[in-house]
Amino acid sequence: MDHSKEFEELVRQIMPEITEISIDETLSRKKHGAQLIDVREDREWDDGHAAGAIHMGRGVIERDIVRQIPDKDSELILYCGGGYRSALAASNLQKMGYTNVRSMKGGWTAWKESGAPRTAGENDLKAVRERTQKVAESFISEGDATGWFEEIYGGADGNNLEIPWADLEPNRFFVEWARSANLSGNGRKALVVGCGLGDDAEYLEDMGFRVTAFDVSSKAIEWAREIHKDSSIEFHVADLFNLPEEWKNSFDFVLEIYTIQALPMNLREKTIDAISELAAPDGELLIVTRGREDDVEPEGLPWAVSCEDLSRFEKNGYELKEFTVMPGEEEVPIERFVARYKKTTLK
Ligand SMILES: C[S@@+](CC[C@H](N)C(=O)[O-])C[C@H]1O[C@@H](n2cnc3c(N)ncnc32)[C@H](O)[C@@H]1O
Repeated sequence: MDHSKEFEELVRQIMPEITEISIDETLSRKKHGAQLIDVREDREWDDGHAAGAIHMGRGVIERDIVRQIPDKDSELILYCGGGYRSALAASNLQKMGYTNVRSMKGGWTAWKESGAPRTAGENDLKAVRERTQKVAESFISEGDATGWFEEIYGGADGNNLEIPWADLEPNRFFVEWARSANLSGNGRKALVVGCGLGDDAEYLEDMGFRVTAFDVSSKAIEWAREIHKDSSIEFHVADLFNLPEEWKNSFDFVLEIYTIQALPMNLREKTIDAISELAAPDGELLIVTRGREDDVEPEGLPWAVSCEDLSRFEKNGYELKEFTVMPGEEEVPIERFVARYKKTTLK
């Protein structure tokens, strides 16, 4: 976009006060905990954004930042379309007392050109969800509840934006829980069920776990191995309903995110029973799922999980230690349940 001389002059004046960083530096700082903030307009955000970014548009960032990020020493990296609006926003945050703010040079245009990970915005997600739903329905109507995952991963042809859940970031509800719980692996053995592209597995490895992760889709595992090639995660193609015997009762921490809800209701008990087998005695199990009231029947994919569904873990020898309901970021927020169990009885 062509900018007016006056706007360019305004930006030029504040440039010496702020720090601009490259895409590579942004990626590296983000990996070490910096928060990326997209300051563009709502409609630009809804067309797609940088993976892991949160959204606070230029119009509201000064109003909302203190409530959303009260720690003024937090490391923040702002980006906009090309680097000007984020520079102005960075200058204002500094005036408000934020000590560790940077502006990403080249903004969204440079991010896309560099091939850095992107998350689909609401505008594209709607179409992607509809397509996924159709593929799932056609497999499930033929009696195949899991074959559609391979079709979705394979059909995406390396583009995560074609997969509704694949945002190349660890699940944000899991991360929120992990931070509040001060999760630390200390060399313990973790297993990730239905790991998809492996970002939650990598998060666990970064927390100090020795991680095994599996998925029924060989395309997903091939892709995950490529993305996380510098990690020590053991990725396996495996079916939850037919897992190696030696995995049973053997993991200190089992993580399941969005797999129960992706399998039809007639498999609910079987799915929960299979997951229940994996934790070692005294091991922990963390479930992150879309939640629903007990008396509300899910209409279709994803088949949200009720407290009554989850109570089966208790029948299977687990004690519920913690249960949190977290609102999603959807226009009408969808609740997520985060449930932590401890295996107390071997069944
Ligand atoms: C909705 S996706 C969630 C993926 C990942 N956990 C995440 O949150 O991004 C469900 C995942 O479960 C996997 N899955 C479904 N049924 C499975 C089964 N029987 N055994 C192993 N993985 C399965 C799918 O291939 C898919 O990757």
